[in-house]
Amino acid sequence: MRIVSKLLIEHHPPLVMARSGLSPDVWQSRLLHDRPHRAIVVCSRQAGKSTVCAGKALHRAFTDPNAEIVVVSPTQRQSTLLVSKVRRFAEALGIELTRDAATFLRLTNGSTIYALPGHADTVRGYSPELLIIDEAAYTAEDLYTACLPMLAATGGDLVAISTPRGRDGWFWHEWNGEGADGWERIEVPYTEISRISEEFITQQKASMSAERFAAEYECSFNSSTFGLFNAADIAAAGPRPLPDEGGLPDPWQIMARNRAPFQAAAS
Ligand SMILES: Nc1ncnc2c1ncn2[C@@H]1O[C@H](COP(=O)(O)OP(=O)(O)OP(=O)(O)O)[C@@H](O)[C@H]1O
Ligand SMILES: [Mg+2]
Repeated sequence: MRIVSKLLIEHHPPLVMARSGLSPDVWQSRLLHDRPHRAIVVCSRQAGKSTVCAGKALHRAFTDPNAEIVVVSPTQRQSTLLVSKVRRFAEALGIELTRDAATFLRLTNGSTIYALPGHADTVRGYSPELLIIDEAAYTAEDLYTACLPMLAATGGDLVAISTPRGRDGWFWHEWNGEGADGWERIEVPYTEISRISEEFITQQKASMSAERFAAEYECSFNSSTFGLFNAADIAAAGPRPLPDEGGLPDPWQIMARNRAPFQAAAS
C-alpha cells in the first residue's frame, strides 16, 4: 500500500466505509473519528450499527500496530458476520490480511480482530486495546462483568452499541448513569437514518405494538418490549398474594392486556 493511501486512511477514518461506497452518517463519522474511552450507543434497528463497528475495528487495527480488537455479540454468528464486514472493508481499501479466518483477521502490522460469542467463559484470555459489544442490550450481565477485566492491563477502549431492551440489565444501567462514570452517550433514532423510509415506518407501526416500535426504532427503553409480562402490570399486581389471601394474579389477564395494543394496531 502506498504511503499516501496509508496516511489518508489513518487520518480520515470515515474512508474505511466510504471506499466501499457507504457514506457514513453523522453519528457514524463521529464514532469513527473519536476515540472515546467508553462509548455507549443506542440505535434504531438497521441504523448501521454493525457496519460502523466493523469500520471502527478495522481502522483501529490498521492504525495501531500489534493491537488486539475484540468484537463480542450475543451469538458467534453475529460476531462472525461483523468480521465479514471488516473483511469486505479491508478488501476495498487494499489492506492486506496475513491471516483470514471466519473468526479472526490479522493485518500485516500484527494487529488482530477476533469475533467472539457472548458467553462469559469464552472472553477470558484476551487483552484488547478496543472491545466492541454489538447488540449489547441482548448480552448477559455475566458477560459484561467477564469482559471488563480484559481491559485492565491495556487500559483499552470500550464501545457498547445496541437497540434498547427494556429497563433492565447492564446496558440500561450504564446508559441510565447507574454504573461507571465517563461514558460518551450517543442516541440514534430512525429519524436520523435517511435510508429508512416513512413508508417502511408506516408499515412497521401497523405490524407491532406502539411500545415495541418505540424500542426498535425510537431508542425507547420501555419496559415490556420482549417479555411476556409488562413491568408496570407486575408492579400494579402488587406483592404476590398468598393463596389463602385470594390466590395468585391471573397471568392470562395480564397477557391479554399486553396483547391489546398489538391487536388495536392490526385492526
Ligand atoms: N452509512 C451508510 N450508508 C449506506 N448504507 C449503510 C450505511 N450504514 C449502514 N448501511 C447499510 O444498512 C444496512 C444495515 O446495516 P447494519 O447491519 O450495520 O445495521 P444494524 O443497525 O447493525 O442492523 P440490525 O439492527 O439488524 O442489527 C446494511 O445493508 C448496510 O450496508
Ligand atoms: Mg447489527
